[in-house]
Amino acid sequence: MGQVKVLNHPLIQHKLTFIRDYKTGTKAFRELVDEVAALMAFEITRELPLEEIEVETPVTIAKAYQLSGKKLGIVPILRAGLGMVDGMLNLIPAAKVGHVGLYRDPETLMPVEYYVKLPSDIHERELIVVDPMLATGGSASAAITSLKERGAVNMKLMCLIAAPEGVKQIQDDHPDVDIYLAALDEKLDEKGYIVPGLGDAGDRLFGTK
Ligand code: URA
Repeated sequence: MGQVKVLNHPLIQHKLTFIRDYKTGTKAFRELVDEVAALMAFEITRELPLEEIEVETPVTIAKAYQLSGKKLGIVPILRAGLGMVDGMLNLIPAAKVGHVGLYRDPETLMPVEYYVKLPSDIHERELIVVDPMLATGGSASAAITSLKERGAVNMKLMCLIAAPEGVKQIQDDHPDVDIYLAALDEKLDEKGYIVPGLGDAGDRLFGTK
């Protein structure tokens, strides 16, 4: 079964408090999501493999290190996932970015894919799929399935906040995918919002309602 890791770094938790606060406006919300996404990416990439190389400093030859494993890819689930991309790219500028767009069919309530654009070497990349809210888990699970069908073999899921229902869905459908969160909240309400959550992440990021 995939692991769930809540990233308890004090800066992540402090900033998440302001992200949750309904008084936080669009500009600050967007900046804070960027910052938390970068901090989460910092934690998630802790175990990336390194290789030893030599570098010539102005003084002498030094032993140094560079990343040696698979290249990285970031895949935001549209639209709210977009809010986490820039912060991550600040830390990992060489990562390529794919996009997966899904909407929920109002009748069947099933996720329907409307847009997919991925790096051509997706099968060789370590992917971080990002969506701020893991609510029912339906969209994230469908996005991961879609990525696997297109050749992805190595994925992590990174969300700001999850409900237990969403975590269970991903663990049931994709036991090979570890989940990284800033917080695991209490439950979903009858409208599918995470409680206590932060409201609609897309609306708060983009100033829509
Ligand atoms: N999507 C959101 O943006 N917020 C929730 O609480 C649940 C799903």
